[in-house]
Amino acid sequence: MAIRNIVQVGDPVLRGKCRPVEEITPRILTLLDDMRETLAYADGAGLAAPQVGVRRRVVIVVDENDKMIELINPEIIEQSGHQHELEGCLSVPGRWGYTDRPMHVTVRAMDREGNLFTVSGSGLTARAFCHEIDHLDGILFIDHAEECKIETQE
Ligand code: NI
Repeated sequence: MAIRNIVQVGDPVLRGKCRPVEEITPRILTLLDDMRETLAYADGAGLAAPQVGVRRRVVIVVDENDKMIELINPEIIEQSGHQHELEGCLSVPGRWGYTDRPMHVTVRAMDREGNLFTVSGSGLTARAFCHEIDHLDGILFIDHAEECKIETQE
């Protein structure tokens, strides 16, 4: 396993559409392992493959029990409710903004064994699902956040 470099806003890899994973290869498993390690190191709520420079539909979301959920080819299949909360991104350091997101989200994805599963999340977890899946289509939260501001930290 290795900690990978997190790509910053301005890099075109964050703006492309990612390709689906057709087969779980050793390369995909290494990507997942490295993303886990990178996310733990960066202490974020989620990470998408393009953030480590890989244009594949792979994300990891940290749930409310601090468990990392690996999602391959994730799709939102159900959503309800509404929330308007502050959001940030490891690829957009120092900036935060309010986004409109559903309060509850159900995602269907493939796991590392190639099995389809569904997972649901609310609140912060629902935001993380939406935010990370947006990354796979080249969308960043700053594209639709209200009142993005620079957080100054000494
Ligand atoms: Ni992000």
